[in-house]
Amino acid sequence: MALEFSERIGRIPAYPVAGGYAQDAPLVSLASNESPYPPLPQVREAIERALATLNRYPDPSNSLLRRRLSDRYGVPEARIAIGNGSCDILLAAGEALLEPGAELVYAWPSFSVYPHLSAASGARAVTVALDSSERHDLPAMLREITVATRLVLVCNPNNPTSTAVPLREIAEFLAEVSPHVCVIVDEAYCEFNLLEDPDSSIELLDHHPNLMLLRTFSKVHGLCGLRVGFALCGSEQLPRALDQVRQPFFCNALAQAAAVEALEHQDAVIDRVARNVAERISVDERLRALGIEPAESQANFCWFHLPAERDEQDVMTGLQERGVLVRGGAALGGEGALRVTYGTPQENERFLEALAEVLQAA
Ligand SMILES: Cc1ncc(COP(=O)(O)O)c(C=O)c1O
Repeated sequence: MALEFSERIGRIPAYPVAGGYAQDAPLVSLASNESPYPPLPQVREAIERALATLNRYPDPSNSLLRRRLSDRYGVPEARIAIGNGSCDILLAAGEALLEPGAELVYAWPSFSVYPHLSAASGARAVTVALDSSERHDLPAMLREITVATRLVLVCNPNNPTSTAVPLREIAEFLAEVSPHVCVIVDEAYCEFNLLEDPDSSIELLDHHPNLMLLRTFSKVHGLCGLRVGFALCGSEQLPRALDQVRQPFFCNALAQAAAVEALEHQDAVIDRVARNVAERISVDERLRALGIEPAESQANFCWFHLPAERDEQDVMTGLQERGVLVRGGAALGGEGALRVTYGTPQENERFLEALAEVLQAA
């Protein structure tokens, strides 16, 4: 007899994972919006020190990390949630807020984890198309909010399209959203956004108890292998509810130690963003020279549509044969497009050369 799973197992979409982990030949991996730079030496030393404590469970309340985040961002510790990556916080928010009969509103294409929240909870997902510049259409999202809406997700900058909406538009949007609706602004890439200071959204928390700003150590801090993210919240109720639906000890000791140390090195963050933005400008220019118009990126990756006659899968295969992994739009809700992380100058060169070859081949 076959195993019988819960009905939601049939609904939950598989997360589109990148390949390449088991390859022998070194690949240029530009498929997962990772940092091309390894963890800082001081962060590695902090991890080494924490290794000696691994016979003990980690601090379940993540107190030192929350205190340091509170000092850094000026948000009280009780309004800060930690997660095993920011995805963990997203999924916990879905579990805490959603249920059959409730509604979840988000833009599409956007981060591929969002559909899990409705599928896992049985809530109804209401997706709203991006505007013609592939940015969130916040007025259209506002029109979809009903009495049944419990959660709205705004990804800024948006994965996979790399575009950002100005904070002013988000503030106007929040002013119109009913306080019974939780709004998560997913700011995984906010440090790369040149439209504003990444700290400026924090002021919104003082006016909106229903707001959660989702951040991560995975991107600009280069710690995605450890899994640690956080949320700055407008009220204490939100972190409390997240903790209620999760296992204890959700953030491991090495991740907590690394994140605490990473916060001491804002200069490195600024330096890495500067290097990434320099690559962004240069890669986008070279793409235009190939006849490709990338979306206006405010993130550590670009998004572009392939010429109409080119098959996305063929281009991806051609790139992979040349040792370059990128992410295809079809798996991300935007067929005929590619999402490519900006890497080191050498990695970007290899990608651009491979792309030029593949596009030239008939
Ligand atoms: C928009 C967005 N949010 C959240 C995450 C999750 O990051 P993590 O769970 O590594 O913190 C990602 C990862 O790619 C992302 O693109």
